Amino acid sequence: MTSILVNGVKREVQAANDTPLLYVLRNDIELSGPQFGCGLAQCGACSVLLNGKEVRSCITPLGAVSDKEVTTLEGLPARWAKQTGLTPEQAAKTLHPVQEAWIAEQTPQCGFCQNGMMIKATELLERVSSPTVADIKEAFTSGVSPHLCRCGTYTAIIQAVQNAATRMRKASQIL
Ligand code: FES
Ligand code: FES
Repeated sequence: MTSILVNGVKREVQAANDTPLLYVLRNDIELSGPQFGCGLAQCGACSVLLNGKEVRSCITPLGAVSDKEVTTLEGLPARWAKQTGLTPEQAAKTLHPVQEAWIAEQTPQCGFCQNGMMIKATELLERVSSPTVADIKEAFTSGVSPHLCRCGTYTAIIQAVQNAATRMRKASQIL
């Protein structure tokens, strides 16, 4: 039995230490945000935040995360609520600004890659409040591999990241 902290909740899972985190998240914890794309760290569909850094959960063994905080797409609203000090009532009705921006910009086409895109955007915007287009392109193409979208939503993703950045800056001015 291994305990892991996922989206602020401690979970006990019965899986070997070398089981990919993606399998644990989808099969044991029944989360549907992280997607199985390539299984080889080549596409980004499976991304999650590990202590705030984007990792590919398809190649991250369960044993490597037991002392760290995992945040999936489902955990972004609570992450934002905690960062901005929302009450539990407010938090229950809140999406993360990245998710709001993705809806406002109607970014996804088939949607399969968009989990990883939103996770990457969140990681970037927690580090850089006003990213340039070059910053955004760099974030999505650096690291273990570029984030891939077979539908070609790259331009829409850049617009959505800029939209989310504006929302996050506005929220921090209000606080
Ligand atoms: S499924 Fe993990 S990077 Fe493609
Ligand atoms: S929206 Fe279809 S793969 Fe990206």
